[in-house]
Formats: sequence, structure tokens, C-alpha cells
Amino acid sequence: MGFLPFFSFETWILLISFVFLFVLYGHWTFGVFKKLGIAGPKPVMYWGTVGRYNQVYYLDDNECAKKYGRVWGLYELRKPMLAVMDPEMLKTILVKECFTLFTNRRNFRLNGELYDAVNIAEDEQWRRIRNQVTPSFASGRIKEMFSIMQHHSHKLMVSLQSKVDNDEVITVKDTFGPYSMDVMVSCVFGVDLDSINKPANPFITHASKLFNFPLPLFFFQGFFPFFLPLLELLGLSFFPKSSTTFFRTVVEKIRAERNESSRKNLTDILQYFINSKSSKERENLGLNDHEIFSQVTMLLFAGYETSATTLVFLAYTLARNPEVMKRLQQEIDSTFPHKGPVQYDSLMQMEYLSSVVDECLRLYPPAARLERTAKETVKVKGITIPKNMVVMIPVYALHRDPELWPDPEEFKPDRFSKENKQSIDPYTYLPFGVGPRNCLGRRFAMALIKLALVKVLQNYSFLVCEETEIPLKMNPEGLVGPQRPIKLKLQKRSVSSADVEN
Ligand code: HEM
Repeated sequence: MGFLPFFSFETWILLISFVFLFVLYGHWTFGVFKKLGIAGPKPVMYWGTVGRYNQVYYLDDNECAKKYGRVWGLYELRKPMLAVMDPEMLKTILVKECFTLFTNRRNFRLNGELYDAVNIAEDEQWRRIRNQVTPSFASGRIKEMFSIMQHHSHKLMVSLQSKVDNDEVITVKDTFGPYSMDVMVSCVFGVDLDSINKPANPFITHASKLFNFPLPLFFFQGFFPFFLPLLELLGLSFFPKSSTTFFRTVVEKIRAERNESSRKNLTDILQYFINSKSSKERENLGLNDHEIFSQVTMLLFAGYETSATTLVFLAYTLARNPEVMKRLQQEIDSTFPHKGPVQYDSLMQMEYLSSVVDECLRLYPPAARLERTAKETVKVKGITIPKNMVVMIPVYALHRDPELWPDPEEFKPDRFSKENKQSIDPYTYLPFGVGPRNCLGRRFAMALIKLALVKVLQNYSFLVCEETEIPLKMNPEGLVGPQRPIKLKLQKRSVSSADVEN
């Protein structure tokens, strides 16, 4: 066969079949939305619609919302996902049908040791675990843990002092990151890491490993999902085994070290789980030992980066909006005159502070997307959602929908004033999700964030400096965040506004 050089005819047939199958497989899932009559960006073989209009996935969602409206179909690699930001549909999916049809998030399967953590568990197991974990975040418990937060906020202030005295440019995450980590580790594990002063610590190394999603594994399971059971068998996991083993050993060590009398006085969440286990053992309702380890590890995972990122964006938006910062400082000074101690109840009742934090979370919701998987084929507001379809809620894009939020790019805390808040549809603002599967740590996070912000603003103002990047280039992976660290300066406040008024 002169026109087919190099290989035999059979080899050519094999090669052509392989290429044909390879191409077919890469396109296989792409017809779903056409059949359902749902618009969306055109997918590329294997790659799907990832980064179609913007490399940053949440900015890409924003572009899609502008082009296709509040419902569209996308393909994350080969996986079809239905993007929904229609408030009426969201009410059905996230609240009304949560227990029946949309109980679970997408399960990547490769969860390793953390398979029974509350955010990963499914159906009945999730309901039971969620019921066990929820009381550990009751408002009385958060008040108890507030003194731990105060302890760390004091250390934060001491560490800032020297930086301000030296007129240093501050990398904001290096300040709020260790504070958030120290609060989380103290409140969850009862261990005082002091990472503000001692950043090198195995706790931090292993926690960071848990937060870094291994991208090659993500792509491999996305391209070839039929290999998942094999990958699971091989013990591969998105959460490195060395790190989960580290946290397991920590939990066992802490449990072994605590004696009868010390247990009673401890307010950390680990101890709370242990105590509720022993009180409920007879009824067999509490969490078992493995579940306790999974929850405490996952709480650290769920709470650390989200809270730290929120504080970073608060500092950035306030530095860029000095008139808002000034008004906030006035409220702080009148609530806690003469830089007085910050009390939990008064902190939580501060109206303008609340509006500022809410507006910051509108512009920069750390979780850019929520997810739920349909257990059965169902029609919601006339749109068919097939069984096993992942419904993706593009929170970042929802928060910037110009019909819902006029001048969406503007930082305007008054959108969330007491009067204006009444008219906000709850399904248009979802930084913590909504419904039975919403964020468990919302109140806890609010206390942690507001305390640090108030303490810093009692004493300092955030200032934009030459090193501050404006506008920000956003990080394409993970949580909503800046690609490069945000840098600011702090200016000492000589007198508080309350001092001036008096
Ligand atoms: C500003 C800080 C935080 C933000 C923006 C945030 C946001 C979220 C969001 C969007 C979800 C998904 C909700 C849904 O699917 O409807 C979530 C779930 C969750 N969050 Fe948070 N979170 C924050 C802090 C925390 C903290 C401090 C903790 C724990 C101490 C925590 C624990 C959890 C848990 C356990 C879940 C899973 C709940 C379940 O599946 O039942 N979060 N969070």
C-alpha cells in the first residue's frame, strides 16, 4: 500500500479507530444541553467550556450570565453542569427539595479518610452528622469561644504594632491568615498554635497541604471518571494521607492527654463532640471516633481560608473606600468608647459593621459556586434537570447581576442597611449558601471576622500604598481571591472619634 507508508494496513485501521474513539469519547457528553434546549458556551473536546470567556472560572461565570441569562449549560471538562441563578429555582433546589432531591453536593469520591466529614457525607449519614455538629455552633457556644478569639485578637494587635512602628508595608494575608488559623485551631482542637509569632509548625504545613487541591488528579478524574474506583482502591485522595494521618494522631494525642477534670472546663469543639458522645453513647446517637476526627479536620478546612480571605478583602475594600472606613470607625468608637474592650453582644448588634461585612461578601464571596446533585430527573420552573446532573449555583455572578444589584461593581454597604435589607430577596445573596445544607459556621465566622476588624480599626486605618494592586488580578483557582498577595499600609489613629466628641 504505497499511499499508506510506515505501517501495515491493519495498524492503520487500528490507529484510525483509536483516533476516532478518542475524539468520540472527548465529545461524548456534549449533546446534553442541546437536547434539553438549554443555551451555553460551545465546548471543546475533553476541555469542555472551562475558561471559555475568562481563565478565572468565576469571572467566566459572570460573562456567561451576561450572554445566556440566569440558566445555562456548561461542561467542566467532560462533565455537564447546569448553572442556575434564577431565585425561584434556587428556592426549590436549595430549600424546598433539599431533603428529597437535592441533598448532596457533587461527590468527587477521592475523599480518603475524610469520607464521613459533614460537607462530604450524603443523605441519611449527612443528616445524622449535621444534627450532631450543629449544636456545637449554637450562639451560647460561640459566646463561650469568643474569649478564645479575644485572646488571639490581642496577639494580632501586638504583632501589628511593631510593623506599624517600622512603617512597614503589610501583606494582609500574613496578618489575618495566622490569626484565623490560631482561632480555628484553638476553638476546634483546643491547641494554642501561636502561628502569629511562630509560623513554622507542622500543623500549618499539613493544613496547607489539605487546602491545596492536586490539579493533575482533578484533571485525570475529569477526563477518565471510569478510573475512579481504581484510583480509590489505590488509596489516591484529594486530601493527602500524610496530612489526614497527622490530624488523626493529633486528635488521639489530645484525647489521651486530657484528664477527667480538664475535660469539664474545656470549650473547644473536639471536647464538645467527645462529651456529647459519652452522654449519648447508650442511645448510640453521638459521633463515633472516626467521625469526630473527620469533623474537626474538616471544620479547620472549611473555616480557615474562608475567614482569612474575607478579612483580607475587608481591609482592601476599606482602604479603597476611606469614607466608608471613617463611618465604620465612628460606629466602633461610639459602641466601644476610648478603645474599650470589644464585647460579643454589642459587636453583633453593630448595624454599619454588619452592612460593611455583608457588602464585602457580596463583592467577594469566598465560595464562588455552590453545588447540588439531582437524585432524580425533575422539572423545576419548566426546566428539566436530568438524574445525576450537577446543578451549579454561580454565587459570584449572582452577586453581580446588574438587575438585582444596581452598579454591581461598586462597594456600597448601604445596600444592606436595616431598611434596604428588607427588600433583598434571600435567594439573590448567598455567601453562606442557604437552606438545610448552608454554612454551619456562619455565626462563628462572623464573630471571628468582626472582632479582628473592629480591634484593628479601633487603633489603625488601612491605607492604599504604591504596592497595592488596583484593580486586582484574581486567582483562577480555588476560593475567590487575589492572584498576588494584597499589600497595604496601616496608619495609627491618634485619637478616636469618641474622644473627640467627649
Ligand atoms: C467567611 C467565612 C465563611 C464563608 C464565606 C463560608 C461559606 C460557606 C458556603 C458557601 C458553604 C456551602 C453552603 C451551601 O452549599 O449551601 C459552606 C459550608 C460549610 N461551612 Fe462555611 N463558610 C465560612 C466559614 C466557615 C467556618 C468558620 C466554619 C466552621 C467553623 C464553616 C463550616 C462549614 C461547613 C461544615 C460546611 C458544610 C455544611 C454541610 O455540608 O452541611 N464555614 N460554607
